[in-house]
Amino acid sequence: MSAPVQVICVVGARPNFMKMAPILEALKAYPRLRPTLVHTGQHYDREMSEAFFRELDLPRADLDLNVGSGTHGRQTGKILEEFERILLERPPELVVVAGDVNSTLACALASVKLHVPVAHVEAGLRSRNRLMAEEINRVLTDRISDYLFTTSRSAGDNLRSEGIEEGRIHFVGNVMIDTLRRLEPLARERSRVLEELSLAPGSYAVLTLHRPELVDSRETFLPVLGALEKVAAALKLVCPLHPRTRRRLEEFGLLERLEKAPGMVLLGPRGYLDFLRLTSAARLVLTDSGGIQEETTVLGVPCLTLRPETERPVTVAEGTNTVVGLDPGRIVSESLRVLEGKGKAGRVPELWDGRAAERIAAVLARALRA
Ligand code: UD1
Repeated sequence: MSAPVQVICVVGARPNFMKMAPILEALKAYPRLRPTLVHTGQHYDREMSEAFFRELDLPRADLDLNVGSGTHGRQTGKILEEFERILLERPPELVVVAGDVNSTLACALASVKLHVPVAHVEAGLRSRNRLMAEEINRVLTDRISDYLFTTSRSAGDNLRSEGIEEGRIHFVGNVMIDTLRRLEPLARERSRVLEELSLAPGSYAVLTLHRPELVDSRETFLPVLGALEKVAAALKLVCPLHPRTRRRLEEFGLLERLEKAPGMVLLGPRGYLDFLRLTSAARLVLTDSGGIQEETTVLGVPCLTLRPETERPVTVAEGTNTVVGLDPGRIVSESLRVLEGKGKAGRVPELWDGRAAERIAAVLARALRA
């Protein structure tokens, strides 16, 4: 057999784990490909990182850069420096990054500067809101990547309109949905979260909020919280809180008020299986996350996105997602519409079939002659 081909796969923050797990699994079909898993350490709490490794069957990271939290410049800079050191010590033939977090951009940039080709999984998404750090990360990572794996046809169109050559774009489907499809039966079997919280399927909504654009400003957050209290009064609202959101609620003196609000159930961050069980049995999901818009579309659960726009328009055009923005009146009225049975049913987008990672592995194996 000819020489092994070294590939570095990067994870850093919570949404990376469910994207990289199926890719690592699919690469096993090509024994010449030797993946190394690098964790940047952008997320480090047990509930934000380690719990996912266990539940997703991710192998322990070969290398952990332990960069931790910081301002954008500091965090991105630290990853850039640390990841470059890895690349110099053990130069791979390819680096695979996913999504739009700071780890994605930093590792892609370190790689291209050393002439190491980059594959970007979940390329081409655009919110066109340059105030979001993730939008900057997406645009720049796509620009410098050699293999652009997209989840929808519209993402490919975005890339073409930016002048990216056709040969670099590969429409493969959604790896996060590969993980959802694989683990949905296990979540039903293993997770006890509904029993623990005495929740009957269909009798509650799930809320997740963590975007700095929303939770970092008391002025923006307060009216939205008022609307969510009204929703909770009509339908129990289960909220696994991101550490950033909990900290802000404490700083703004709002945590106690929210804890006492009728129908509001505040939790810590949950692992993958509990969260999937919670969302799959929910009547409604309210979120400012990107990935959850996609997961609810596949689960057929109505989703209200509390942001001005979405970079995932296929979830609106075809799925269960409605972008409601931050207007308190609209958040309440759209939630009540869902309770009246007027939520969107939607259909599953093209190629969100659980086999996206296999397609990615096939493209990479061909390109690397493995
Ligand atoms: C990051 C991503 C965001 C993604 C989100 C998912 C960027 C720019 N943002 O946002 O796109 O949707 O992850 O969760 O990359 N913290 C902890 N424990 C942890 C990690 C973070 O307490 O394990 C706290 C720290 O106070 C930290 C804050 O959360 O300062 C923010 O963490 P950071 O990784 O900078 O951004 P997220 O808001 O998590």
